[in-house]
Amino acid sequence: MDRNFALEFVRVTEMAAIASARLMGRGDEKAADHEAVEAMRKMLGSIQFDGTVVIGEGERDEAPMLFIGEKVGRGGGPKLDLALDPLEGTTICARGGNNSLSVIAIAEEGQFLHAPDVYMQKIAVGPSGRGVIDLGKTATENLRRVAAAKDCRVEDLTVAILDRPRHEALISEVRSAGARIWLIGDGDVSAAIATCKPDSGVDMLMGSGGAPEGVIAAAALRCMGGDLVGRLVFRKDEEKDRARRMGITDFDRAYGINDLAAGNVMFCATGVTPGALLNGVRFFSGGARTHSVVMRSESKTVRWIEAEHFFDSKPKY
Ligand code: FBP
Repeated sequence: MDRNFALEFVRVTEMAAIASARLMGRGDEKAADHEAVEAMRKMLGSIQFDGTVVIGEGERDEAPMLFIGEKVGRGGGPKLDLALDPLEGTTICARGGNNSLSVIAIAEEGQFLHAPDVYMQKIAVGPSGRGVIDLGKTATENLRRVAAAKDCRVEDLTVAILDRPRHEALISEVRSAGARIWLIGDGDVSAAIATCKPDSGVDMLMGSGGAPEGVIAAAALRCMGGDLVGRLVFRKDEEKDRARRMGITDFDRAYGINDLAAGNVMFCATGVTPGALLNGVRFFSGGARTHSVVMRSESKTVRWIEAEHFFDSKPKY
């Protein structure tokens, strides 16, 4: 994969972030998502590659744009698979909260798990905890293992957990074990990636969130040297049918990070609203400032990009 693609794709997340950030705090999740999707699709069309959306806005019958299987790009370039979320954290953006992002992960054909839109039980950790997390162990045991790997006490760890009734038992177990908790309203991709950023103050992510988000986060953590394990969670038979249609037959499988995002991957994200990982979009007269991260698994280079965009001189894509 040409390394310069990473910089091409950050233009895409920048534009999607700017488009949705206009609707920050306006209380309209659908409109914010729609703006991000339209901008992302338009920008993808300006890049010379043969892209297929494998993680996108949903199945073809439920998403008009960037649906799973949609062909994107100008064509005539390498065949690449995309796992994308034009606005990860639609509710966050609509409420003006923290940690919404525009994200794209890129891999060569066939390297991303085609994850259905169901929940995934996940544990994510930064580089110092790589290799010790295990979904077959209790939360307490995982906390002890990560603390030992980091040479600290369980009490020193901060765990991000989505604030959901389904996590009641997990939250009380983590509290009993003594770790600190960062309860997040939404946005577990940002929280998973934050585990790899030493100054973020987050050591682990635990609990179940979207499976597509799990694949996207796995791509980022591959680039940053972190770790993520996941297992699909099915609440009804219809969800298993959906998984079967995507080629999944082992419903109890625990996926390692390389099962979710294999081979050489690239990852780009731009902050929409401010967060632990990235600053949000800031508008000024005639333009906007964005904060993005771009990375590649092959080189492990992580670039933090502050960009100033001037609307009068932007080309029309
Ligand atoms: P959206 O951007 O699709 O709204 O997802 C936000 C999110 O919080 C994800 O980060 C997370 O994986 C998932 O929703 C959790 O789902 P739920 O809100 O059903 O618990």
